[in-house]
Amino acid sequence: MTELSRRQFLYLSAVSPFTYELSALAAESEGNKPASSYPRTTAVLQDAFMVETLASRNYIGYTSKALSETYPNIAYLFHAFSRSEQIHAGNYKRVFATLGYEAKTLDMEIDVRDTKANLQQAARNELKKITATYPDFIKELEAEACDEAIMYCMYSWKSHQQHEGKVREIMKYSGILFGRVSSKIEGLKLDFHVCRVCGSTLDEAPRTPCTICNRSMSNYFKVERPT
Ligand SMILES: [Fe+2]
Ligand SMILES: [Fe+2]
Repeated sequence: MTELSRRQFLYLSAVSPFTYELSALAAESEGNKPASSYPRTTAVLQDAFMVETLASRNYIGYTSKALSETYPNIAYLFHAFSRSEQIHAGNYKRVFATLGYEAKTLDMEIDVRDTKANLQQAARNELKKITATYPDFIKELEAEACDEAIMYCMYSWKSHQQHEGKVREIMKYSGILFGRVSSKIEGLKLDFHVCRVCGSTLDEAPRTPCTICNRSMSNYFKVERPT
């Protein structure tokens, strides 16, 4: 297995601390300047950028599939999450640039199945980010105390945590009870709003400043329904 395809495999299966070393190798081999002040931070930022970019692309694929299977609300949910993931990826890219690096997107294949399988996979991935990926990232970042990187990583982690309860419910019941879960989601009145600073995702219009980044409500935009 080549170095890059090995990396892709790791992203698709599990992000482990080992990937930080691979990121540093990839960053150097792709023409980036060698990391000096923040080598671990730059490796995490590259990993986080790829994780969020891949998540966003998967959600775009899930959205199309859900629309084609006539699950408009599930499609809307996937679409809103895709927008949130784009904001996380964009934040990492920007911080990475301030450190003198250019975030790289390796060829990452999206994995789209039917909506039932996509919903279960999305729930698994979300929970993994909440319980493992982001705690690992933050632990690694804290070693070098690059405040901006830590702040944006915390924003992403907290925005994923916003839906932990719902995600756990979906994961628990969307197997044999998919029909019930899908009809419950399709019966909800959803109106997604995403904070353009931190990616916070609400299923109703905001009534207070963002509880994650503390910026004003005006930073939220309404996510249009996908068609
Ligand atoms: Fe994210
Ligand atoms: Fe926010």
